[in-house]
Amino acid sequence: MIYMLPHLGGSPRTEDHMGSGGRAFAFGAGLDEHVGMGQVVAVVNQKGGVGKTTVTLGLASAAMARGHKTLVIDLDPQGASTWVLGGQADRLSTSVADVLATGKGSVAKAAVVPSEWSHLVDILPSVPRLQELEVLRAGLEGLVLGTKTETRLRKAIQSLAPHYGTILIDCPPSLGSLTTNGLAAASQALVVVEPTALSLRGIDPVSQLIESVWERHNQYLDLAGVIVNRMPPRSHDAAVHFDELAARVGRRAIWSPEVPSRVVLAEAAAARRAIHQMGARGSDVAGIFDKLYSKLWKLIKPARA
Ligand SMILES: Nc1ncnc2c1ncn2[C@@H]1O[C@H](COP(=O)(O)OP(=O)(O)O)[C@@H](O)[C@H]1O
Ligand SMILES: [Mg+2]
Repeated sequence: MIYMLPHLGGSPRTEDHMGSGGRAFAFGAGLDEHVGMGQVVAVVNQKGGVGKTTVTLGLASAAMARGHKTLVIDLDPQGASTWVLGGQADRLSTSVADVLATGKGSVAKAAVVPSEWSHLVDILPSVPRLQELEVLRAGLEGLVLGTKTETRLRKAIQSLAPHYGTILIDCPPSLGSLTTNGLAAASQALVVVEPTALSLRGIDPVSQLIESVWERHNQYLDLAGVIVNRMPPRSHDAAVHFDELAARVGRRAIWSPEVPSRVVLAEAAAARRAIHQMGARGSDVAGIFDKLYSKLWKLIKPARA
């Protein structure tokens, strides 16, 4: 079965597909109708540790280096991107948890704080309490919290969106209501994978969630593509897994270059710095994120025009 995301005002492309079931996703531009939200990008994968946060922050760092005003929305209860960006969960009076509880733009506005990186990067921070919201939602969806909980983030950030060139949503390692909220708010989904057998097994559930959110909540959602993280320099296994990924999602869906394994990325996170602030040691990886961000910007720029 060939399954396509039809594009409003554009023709579906059949040559790119994602998922072993032969499901096909169109990807690319054509999102300018998403009422000013074309620059919202959700970084997803249900597996922890594959590099969602690293890629989100690498892209935020590249956006900052280009002078683009950027908002990072941290949907992971573990709050890694909030922490690296300098947010202090214990000092926050309002967070993304309140945003999801209310769906209100005024709450989102109150929750946004500047990062420690630069005035160009803001955070919509996470708090550990976010986890309770996810668990609560899973069991009581629709009963206690009412309907339409999945589009609360989108509604809440609508009035913030015009202030940012790029909005990156760092999703949690799950495919529950938090990630669903992230995808429902986004115009682009970026899937992060590692070139390992285990990581590739996760591709089908992710593509199914993207498809389901597209069907039920967000017809403007597009698959931007797949970013391969922790690509080892010379590894037969990794090369085999890379080819397998290409066979499953289509070579054009995989973004180039891949992000290599580099200690400096972990060091930047530990030092709560941007990869572009790590000096010469970070410059090759920073250059890779510059290239990836340029590709992303080409997708979202039409929506900013
Ligand atoms: N390309 C990479 N090279 C070196 N370390 C990495 C790389 N990508 C991620 N890491 C490290 O691996 C850990 C998990 O990455 P993270 O981005 O937090 O994953 P996720 O957000 O998907 O859970 C972090 O400590 C991070 O610094
Ligand atoms: Mg993370």
